[in-house]
Amino acid sequence: MSQRIKIKALLESEQTDINVTVKGWVRTFRNNQFIALNDGSTNNNLQVVVDFENTDPALLKRLTTGAAISVSGLLVASLGKGQKVEVKAKEIEILGDSDPEKYPLQPKKHSLEFLREIAHLRFRTSTFGSVFRVRNSLAFAVHQFFQERGFIYLHTPIITASDAEGAGETFHVTNFDLLNPPKTESGEIDFKEDFFGRPTNLTVSGQLEGELGAMALSDIYTFGPTFRAENSNTTRHLAEFWMIEPEMAFYDLNDNMDLAEELLKYVIKYALDKNAEDISFLTQRLEDEEKQKPQQERSEMSLLEKLQFCLDNDFERLTYTEAIDILKESTPNKKKKFQYPIEGWGTDLQSEHERYLVEKHFKKPVILTDYPKQIKAFYMRQNEVDANGHETVRAMDILFPGIGEIVGGSQREERLDKLEQRMDEMGIPKDELWWYLDTRRFGACPHAGFGLGFERLVQFVTGMGNIRDVIPFPRFPKNAEF
Ligand code: 4AD
Ligand code: MG
Repeated sequence: MSQRIKIKALLESEQTDINVTVKGWVRTFRNNQFIALNDGSTNNNLQVVVDFENTDPALLKRLTTGAAISVSGLLVASLGKGQKVEVKAKEIEILGDSDPEKYPLQPKKHSLEFLREIAHLRFRTSTFGSVFRVRNSLAFAVHQFFQERGFIYLHTPIITASDAEGAGETFHVTNFDLLNPPKTESGEIDFKEDFFGRPTNLTVSGQLEGELGAMALSDIYTFGPTFRAENSNTTRHLAEFWMIEPEMAFYDLNDNMDLAEELLKYVIKYALDKNAEDISFLTQRLEDEEKQKPQQERSEMSLLEKLQFCLDNDFERLTYTEAIDILKESTPNKKKKFQYPIEGWGTDLQSEHERYLVEKHFKKPVILTDYPKQIKAFYMRQNEVDANGHETVRAMDILFPGIGEIVGGSQREERLDKLEQRMDEMGIPKDELWWYLDTRRFGACPHAGFGLGFERLVQFVTGMGNIRDVIPFPRFPKNAEF
């Protein structure tokens, strides 16, 4: 018998009347005759035709949803609708039974909430098969994009002693017995006794270490897990998420924005080419889901159209100040429809404001720049004070339809005196970040970088409404199952 062939390759093959062996999991078995078999290589199932009159009834009984089987038989042109080829089974072997009374996945539609509770099995559904194949392609495309451009993939640490964003949302790392940690004479926890001899945490961002790499290697990127103990129960936040963080020497903010826009378009195009079937399936899934909503809440474009639209159009670039002017004059602001009315300059934008700009006003991806310095991290390059006395930094956020902020980045403050002054103002310990400041002491140069939230990207490309459905095993408040 021939070697196992994956279903994707088999469905694409031009040959028929050849013997093949396929292995996979039974999706359905109908009329004691037709097995829909899936092996995860494609969204499409292979139809296996069973000669039930000449098959042991005991074996037929074991062809249940979820069972793992191996089938050898003849690949023939299919007479039925929906598939070009099918396999006429000559030999079927049950590799692993699946008790239909107990198997949680039934051949029917399950809610995404229910599937989240059985995340160990949800890969076996069409939706999650497609989502994770697209996620895989996007990850590969990220590496390909940077590698083609001579960037160095730099592995920044997961355990650190700093809080790069200064937001205080870190998870502690310790090997202390939490019920009985060593104490100092004055009764405080004695971190000198801890594993690293000091308090440590899981990284919230690889940026600071990334900058050190860029100050020698020119262009680097990180792509790894990051951790935030923010208690946000939203469809856009995870406690553990993956982030892509490039950092480029000799880049200013415009170069930075160009690179980010190019990256986003590149990886979306890659997935569209590579995962056409999955994206077309997900487009249909979203359309079905949206049919449940009232007309005015449905999106004007299908998923496929949205992705294409994103490729075909330049992202709109404007400053925070210009955005505030637009928002102030907007109908929802005047009619008091915003939960957080836009009054003055200087406060952070809420997601309702970002959505208005992207989905209603510009109707395309938007890059906002030059945010008030008060609401941004200490490392961003400070602009000259403007005529209105506004103090801003060379920040940029990319806002996407349906997602909100997908990228956050900036040109970095390379001037030692300005950086130190800002750290003092914000109470960021300079002595702990002596190594970061060293790059400003020795061969400092203009540089810039950004962070792309990988799961938000996967959400955009798959059209999944909840970020918990685009990472295999989501981590969020009160949940670390699996
Ligand atoms: O805007 P953020 O916090 O920026 C940084 O961490 C910078 N150090 C990046 C840099 O300049 N190198 O996060 C960057 C992106 C956000 O735009 C968002 O897409 C994503 O990371 N993100 C999250 N994604 C999922 N869950 C969360 N809790 C996230 N927090 C941020
Ligand atoms: Mg941000």
